[in-house]
Amino acid sequence: MTLVLALKTIHITTLIIWCAGLLALPLLLAGDHRNLAQSDYTRLRLTLQNGYIAVITPAAVIAVTAGTALIFLRGLYVPWMFAKLVMVGFLVGLHGLTGHAIIAIGEAPGEAQLNLAIPRLVAAVLLMAIILLLVLAKPDVPLTLLPDWLQQPLGLQSPFEAVPM
Ligand code: HEM
Repeated sequence: MTLVLALKTIHITTLIIWCAGLLALPLLLAGDHRNLAQSDYTRLRLTLQNGYIAVITPAAVIAVTAGTALIFLRGLYVPWMFAKLVMVGFLVGLHGLTGHAIIAIGEAPGEAQLNLAIPRLVAAVLLMAIILLLVLAKPDVPLTLLPDWLQQPLGLQSPFEAVPM
């Protein structure tokens, strides 16, 4: 129980940092930086890079690791959790796209596609809201939403003798 509490505390603390970063970095990217003085531009670029590499990505890795451990400790092999993981997958995709945008403003400042920052911000807010709804309401997600091929055994060899119940 104490371990679950500790992991949940770590999970929530680090996911707050991760999600805050996924909102703050696109906001910093969204401005028009093309007329900035060189020293200001360099400071902005280093803030973005260091924030992404040293703070937000490690927070994401810790949040996902603690969350994964919680699934096994709490035995949460349930549809709402799988739906949450799909949404988290999209959030991880956005994380990668933000990193790509940060590299782009460093390598090609004049051509960087800064106008994509706002759609990314909106997508991140929507995904976070859906994830929170799933994890807090734990709704009954019907398995009939899945395509047929995901509901049938494919006759593949399992690496384990018994699957987790
Ligand atoms: C791969 C990534 C993630 C995994 C594997 C994961 C897994 C988990 C698990 C197993 C729990 C415990 C649920 C329970 O005890 O009922 C949990 C709690 C929670 N997760 Fe995640 N999670 C992930 C990412 C996220 C993200 C991105 C958010 C928010 C945007 C989030 C928000 C929460 C919240 C708020 C709780 C506490 C819910 C409660 O105790 O009522 N998680 N997570």
